[in-house]
Amino acid sequence: MLPTILAIESSCDDTSIAILKDDAILVNLVASQKIHEAYGGIVPEVASRQHLKNIIPTISQAITQAKIQLTDLQAIAVTKGPGLLGSLVVGVNVAKALALSLNLPLIEVNHVKAHVLAHFIDDPKPSFPFLCLTVSGGHTQIVLVKDFLNLEVIGQTRDDAAGEAYDKSGKLLGLPYPAGPLIDKYAALGEAKYSFTEPKIDGLDFSFSGMKTAIRYFLRDSLKGNDQFITENRNDICASIQFSINSFLRNKLIKASKETGIKEIAIAGGVSANKGLRKMLAEEADRQDWNFYIPQFQYCTDNAAMIAKASAYYYEKGHFSDLSLKPAARLPIS
Ligand code: KG4
Ligand code: ZN
Repeated sequence: MLPTILAIESSCDDTSIAILKDDAILVNLVASQKIHEAYGGIVPEVASRQHLKNIIPTISQAITQAKIQLTDLQAIAVTKGPGLLGSLVVGVNVAKALALSLNLPLIEVNHVKAHVLAHFIDDPKPSFPFLCLTVSGGHTQIVLVKDFLNLEVIGQTRDDAAGEAYDKSGKLLGLPYPAGPLIDKYAALGEAKYSFTEPKIDGLDFSFSGMKTAIRYFLRDSLKGNDQFITENRNDICASIQFSINSFLRNKLIKASKETGIKEIAIAGGVSANKGLRKMLAEEADRQDWNFYIPQFQYCTDNAAMIAKASAYYYEKGHFSDLSLKPAARLPIS
């Protein structure tokens, strides 16, 4: 029988609760923390306090909306890591309390693995093996997915994640956090007329720190000649930044596909919501004859539906955790 699972995701700044029943997501609620906008980035201490405030009301709302009782649940799933420790602690402890009081198995899930497995929530689903470019505020990886529980990172960033590259570039332009969605919006109105040299990094790894410095110097020099440069050229600057970040991601993905011979290509994580990236990769898919997969928008950014879906595979295999489960800020995918 397929289990009914309540899943908790609290690795960063979103408190998310999902309920999976009969292999379908009944609800996927996300309580976002707008409070960080004022600080220009996530403040870990503030994030964990917000999780504490939001988590129980969000669980109650999820149970009500799913029209189930707590006693209908067969397992509790939770993100163990990677993420902010103070944020993870809140989710893990609430999950333990629920598992203990309802006498249910507890299932720990790796957040990055769950981003990849979000592709199995809806159709069309990729077939194994496939490559998944996982790009978010915390991670930038090319993952070789051999089956549901067998994943290998074949390329990753050596410094900033792609989402950080978006957010930090946006900060240089005076945009609020998170700047990724705003750069996406303004880029659609502009032209990529400025170019930032693509970082030279061996193999399938990424690096965004050099690009960030190039953008910083470009803005500094341009502002010397015209102190209104950013205001007057915001859309073109955004289009140029977006094009540079996305082309770098695309070029590594092409390399990974050529090296592995795999043409099943997926993207996941918050940056996969970027319209420019979706378009660029969809066009590349035609050129390279890839089957290309993008999850629904609500399953790209952090969400508990992906945790619930991943946990169902562990449930099937009987992989449960005990109540000594501890969150992990760093957690390798395999
Ligand atoms: O997966 P996610 O919600 O959280 C993490 O696990 O980090 O990703 C958040 C990141 C942020 O850096 C945000 O700026 C970026 O994803 N992001 C975008 C877009 N939507 C979210 N970046 C570019 N374009 C977007 N449309
Ligand atoms: Zn994430």
